[in-house]
Amino acid sequence: MTIPNFPTTRLRRLRSSRNLRRLVRQTNISPADFIYPLFIVHGHEVRHEVVSMPGVFQLSVDQLAAEAGELQQYGIPAVMLFGLPAEKDPIGQENFAQDGIVQQAIRELRRVDPELIIMTDVCMCEYTDHGHCGVIENQQVLNDPTLEILGRVSVSHAEAGASIVAPSAMMDGQIQAIRQALDEASFADLPIMGYSAKFSSAFYGPFRDAADSPPQFGNRSSYQMDPANNRDAMREIETDIAEGADIIMVKPALPYLDIIRQARDRFPDMPLAAYNVSGEYSMLKAAARLGWLDEKRVALESLTAIKRAGADMILTYWAKDAAAWLSLD
Ligand code: PBG
Repeated sequence: MTIPNFPTTRLRRLRSSRNLRRLVRQTNISPADFIYPLFIVHGHEVRHEVVSMPGVFQLSVDQLAAEAGELQQYGIPAVMLFGLPAEKDPIGQENFAQDGIVQQAIRELRRVDPELIIMTDVCMCEYTDHGHCGVIENQQVLNDPTLEILGRVSVSHAEAGASIVAPSAMMDGQIQAIRQALDEASFADLPIMGYSAKFSSAFYGPFRDAADSPPQFGNRSSYQMDPANNRDAMREIETDIAEGADIIMVKPALPYLDIIRQARDRFPDMPLAAYNVSGEYSMLKAAARLGWLDEKRVALESLTAIKRAGADMILTYWAKDAAAWLSLD
């Protein structure tokens, strides 16, 4: 096809009014695309703002009814739960305890909103005293012994009423192990969302304040992916799909839009999530506070870019704000 040149072609013609721009817009974001992360803590009437993440709160279980009400009002279909245990130990006992903090939160959310999609982060770092995502021996993160624990955690979340479990530990074989554990416990219909392509990223910094989960020695580079690699990301996604993942994810989002696009093109039939992580949120928040950026515009532009790159759904701390802004737009 030969495209006629200027002056026949004037691309500005379709940009001349707001409604024309709305008509030809390729990518629309909506509250239905959002998954809202929640940090749950023990205690009563706790609503503790995370210093490095303004607008994000650690919440006690009694705060969740109000939270669920707000989400329902905004039309946000899903949450992702992270728990801060009362005590940490080498394997993170509270992670699979029947009355663990996340299990309590699931039951409360299920009680107040039977329709809410309750996703749970399945990992060990918030629960372990060493802060790593797996079992430790001689300062090494062991893969296979961790799988059994991730299976137990998933079943325990399912028993409490979770809708979807989302393993983020980056252990090899974690989807297969969890699928098997869920099936054996009669949860064959419970979907798994894999944090499939999860990079070893400094953009998780503020989250580790929120979830109190920094590693106490070393870093996560022996299990999370090297930011330099995209082929490794495709192999991670491929193995997750082969092991039975129902939804795949790329994380972080903004510095990895190429990975999202590649995943979309390579796995066109898979539901694809992207995690707009804490650091992506905090840096724009900070700049907005200084008056250097317009928060609403940069946030909506970021979310649009993530969707344009190919994500079907976005985990974002802006979910409620974005829903409010979109309703005024
Ligand atoms: C747990 C987990 C992390 C995040 C989500 N799940 C932290 C990490 O891997 O260190 C990061 C989310 C964010 O930064 O917003 N493993």
